[in-house]
Amino acid sequence: MTHAARHYLMCPPTWFDVTYAINPWMDPTRPVDRDRAIAQWTALRETYERLGHRVDVLEPQPELPDMVFTANGALVIGDQALGARFREPVREAEAPAHRRWLRDHGIHVHVPHEVNEGEGDFAWTGRHVLAGSGFRTSSRSHDELAELFDLPVVSLELVDPRFYHLDTALLVLDEQTIAYYPAAFSEESQRTLATYYPDAVHATEHDAMVLGLNGTSDGRHVVMAAQADSLAARISDAGFMPISVDVSELLKAGGGVKCATLELHPPVTNHPTRRY
Ligand code: ARG
Repeated sequence: MTHAARHYLMCPPTWFDVTYAINPWMDPTRPVDRDRAIAQWTALRETYERLGHRVDVLEPQPELPDMVFTANGALVIGDQALGARFREPVREAEAPAHRRWLRDHGIHVHVPHEVNEGEGDFAWTGRHVLAGSGFRTSSRSHDELAELFDLPVVSLELVDPRFYHLDTALLVLDEQTIAYYPAAFSEESQRTLATYYPDAVHATEHDAMVLGLNGTSDGRHVVMAAQADSLAARISDAGFMPISVDVSELLKAGGGVKCATLELHPPVTNHPTRRY
């Protein structure tokens, strides 16, 4: 994945709210400023467009306050998608909305048997899919994914409830490079990551706690939370260009830049072989 225009699916936070708590960030007694969320989301969308990326928009639904987090809706590579199957019933109705949109846009959607929360726990790097489990996505879905796409999948176990989705603790910078917060992973998964990515950028707890790792990269520009300053410096030392955005309102629901962005990945070229 070199630096190239990306294709993203976003959903405006028209009905964004925190009315239930399904992760430790969510406190329904703390007010949400929806106008501010909309302004922050709009700035994120405009940032992508300025960088030359294409943004398509999914219609928001009033009874789905977390729908802004489109990353959870599927994993899409080329004209194939693995649809989501949410762990939490409160988000269940988002899955068919995604399936409908994807099918209307010519993508074949596989309806999953196992629980998976899309790109929240699946990160396609261009050579393998890094797949999280531990809080939301079931590890059995990793096999379902490998089978469907015929791609190598590297399973990783999350152990800290604050980092309940892989994309809260790991950011793919390009095909060879990632940034991550080691303590979010089991010891075995830390060893796996160190083996595959010996030169990875490590994030501090502070950076992880502002969801600084919940960013997107086009292989050159890294769109990420403004509050993660030391991570931005490390990412820049690694040769990338951090672009700061403020998504602090979304943080109240435990989400950030990446959660609000589903990537429609181009088809696989140089198909990697699965290793089992
Ligand atoms: N409130 C949402 C949930 O707990 C936030 C989802 C964040 N999305 C993500 N890709 N990490 O499900």
